Amino acid sequence: MPASAPIVEVRRLNRYLGEGEGRVHVLRDIDLTLDAGQTYSIVGPSGCGKSTLLYLLGLLDLPDSGEIHLNGIRADNAGEAERTRLRGALIGFVFQFHFLLAEFTALENILLPLLRQRTIPEPEARAWAEEVLCRVGLRDKLHRRGNQLSGGEQQRVAVARALANKPPLLLADEPTGNLDQANSEALFALLHELAATHNQTILLVTHNPDLAQRCHHTLPMRDGRFI
Ligand SMILES: Nc1ncnc2c1ncn2[C@@H]1O[C@H](COP(=O)(O)OP(=O)(O)O)[C@@H](O)[C@H]1O
Ligand SMILES: [Mg+2]
Repeated sequence: MPASAPIVEVRRLNRYLGEGEGRVHVLRDIDLTLDAGQTYSIVGPSGCGKSTLLYLLGLLDLPDSGEIHLNGIRADNAGEAERTRLRGALIGFVFQFHFLLAEFTALENILLPLLRQRTIPEPEARAWAEEVLCRVGLRDKLHRRGNQLSGGEQQRVAVARALANKPPLLLADEPTGNLDQANSEALFALLHELAATHNQTILLVTHNPDLAQRCHHTLPMRDGRFI
């Protein structure tokens, strides 16, 4: 694989959802190439297929036709074990609703997925989890439980978690959707700064035109296609 292989290469991707008369052609012959270290925003009206595309790229759903290559590896027709491995090795997710474990502390929310990867020993994983949380400004809240953090703080934990194993590809679906302007700005700046440090690629779905514009590339979408 050449060093310059794009992190994401998608060809003629199609996805239908729903049954019978409710069946919708959600993604229509999507082609997409994402390069390492670049940031991309997807903008488009509600229902145009943005989340469906992110699920497919994150290997959480299967296309009806077309190809998905991640880091030069064909992923859409790989077996479940290989898809799980690729997901763990390549992808971090940040969603609008952060899916923190409410009963676990900020630190544990970062640490548990790191330990599950079994790539670094626990003491190092713990030190790194603490460092990532410090970088997102939560030095004083390492041991707060998820349900004792504000919305903005929880979303910062979610970003720290997504970035903790330094995935080459970060998929963010309206990560600032439930935050006020100041917290949105701070979260966006943080995402970019951390991603730039590790040459990560960001694919960000957002309704905020200011944030969209500040990515290297903006990809407008409508009716299941890029326009
Ligand atoms: N499980 C489903 N069954 C039927 N239609 C669905 C399902 N999930 C999503 N859709 C439809 O697919 C389209 C795209 O949805 P989505 O990707 O969530 O859009 P976006 O994220 O751009 O708002 C919408 O028209 C939505 O109603
Ligand atoms: Mg969506």
